Amino acid sequence: MSDQEKKALQAHVKPGPGHLEDALRRLEKAVETMQLGVTITDIAGKIVYTNSAEARIHGYTVDELVGRDVSVFCLPGYRRSLSSEQVRRMKSWRRESMNVRKDGTLLPVALMSDVVLDARDQPIGVVTTCEDLTEAKRAEAERERLQIRMQQSQKLESLAVLAGGVAHDFNNVLTRILGHASLILSELPPPASHVLDKVAEIQNGALRLAQLTNQLLAFAGNGRYKTEPVNVNDIVKELTHLIEVAQGRRVRLQYELGSELPVIIADPVQLQQVFRHLVTNASEAIGEDEGVITIRTGTKWASREYLATTYLGDDAPQGKYVFLEVKDTGCGMDPETKAKIFDPFFTTKFTGRGLGLAAVMGIVRGHGGVIRVDSVPDQGTSVLTLFPARPAFVTQPVEVGR
Ligand SMILES: Nc1ncnc2c1ncn2[C@@H]1O[C@H](COP(=O)(O)OP(=O)(O)OP(=O)(O)O)[C@@H](O)[C@H]1O
Ligand SMILES: [Mg+2]
Repeated sequence: MSDQEKKALQAHVKPGPGHLEDALRRLEKAVETMQLGVTITDIAGKIVYTNSAEARIHGYTVDELVGRDVSVFCLPGYRRSLSSEQVRRMKSWRRESMNVRKDGTLLPVALMSDVVLDARDQPIGVVTTCEDLTEAKRAEAERERLQIRMQQSQKLESLAVLAGGVAHDFNNVLTRILGHASLILSELPPPASHVLDKVAEIQNGALRLAQLTNQLLAFAGNGRYKTEPVNVNDIVKELTHLIEVAQGRRVRLQYELGSELPVIIADPVQLQQVFRHLVTNASEAIGEDEGVITIRTGTKWASREYLATTYLGDDAPQGKYVFLEVKDTGCGMDPETKAKIFDPFFTTKFTGRGLGLAAVMGIVRGHGGVIRVDSVPDQGTSVLTLFPARPAFVTQPVEVGR
């Protein structure tokens, strides 16, 4: 290094008395260009210096801050000023905290403070750096959300394997019970009417169990699907009459059916089940009160971002979907309930079996669809099922069952 270079470097890091102002200006410029906020307060907590980053992070200009008490960054109720005695006893400290911006919004920050000493080692103030953690916190929340979703879908996957296995064995036994019951009925001599009733009871019980088993199979995705091009509006129209009779007068049904829906490739019988379960839940959520159930169909372009807010949306391709929504003005759900609604046998109802939405989930999954649930306690719930739209020219039935 030449002498000239050495001198220049020395002047930069260790200025002689004549260069003090220059050095201070350089220091200020360096602090000004930092992304970290920097604030210096006097011993009483009054801001004597703050850089642009600190002001920007908190939504102020530098001029608005200089001269104010540092508690301007604190949440109301957390505004405690340290006595100069307390500051004297502190050396340096770091902490995560929640500051408040000028507009009142919260600002998560990491703070590092040090006491500033004068030439005789007496504390004259505090210097604090402030890192805006908004983005880091958002990323952390997103990671947690993804992890919960993954755990949920893994849980549902293993439950589906279990439910499918049990339901399959159940079905075999039930078929035998029903077969033998009808054999007994056909072989009994005519005067045995007292036995007839009992055998009919066995048959009814076995049929009820078969229904339950079918719902479990639907949840497991093992249901046999007989698919064809389907217009979702037809599914709604076919069931309208039945549903209106069942609802009685207290619940008003409102239809908002989209026009010119593309077809979807689906098993109409399974879709009817989905629709029935959703309307039944909506009606039960309204209970004995008056309320409205809105049934909507339509076409929606679902982006990656939108699909990320749905169940089963992780692997679904973005694109055009046909939706069937059932929305009610019923009791709604809190987040804890909402997290469990697709678990088989989860129910909050006295007579419920907790299999309706499990079956809905299985059927929608079997059709390559996704589900979105929005619910607010005491206000109502919307369950939206979305199925991939197919080009209108598809008319050949396609088998997608497993
Ligand atoms: N529209 C809704 N409004 C409020 N809560 C709902 C709604 N739909 C479902 N739930 C909640 O989700 C739970 C599970 O619903 P699911 O349909 O799977 O079972 P269930 O209705 O309790 O019983 P099942 O359908 O087998 O008769 C319900 O018990 C209820 O707590
Ligand atoms: Mg139900």
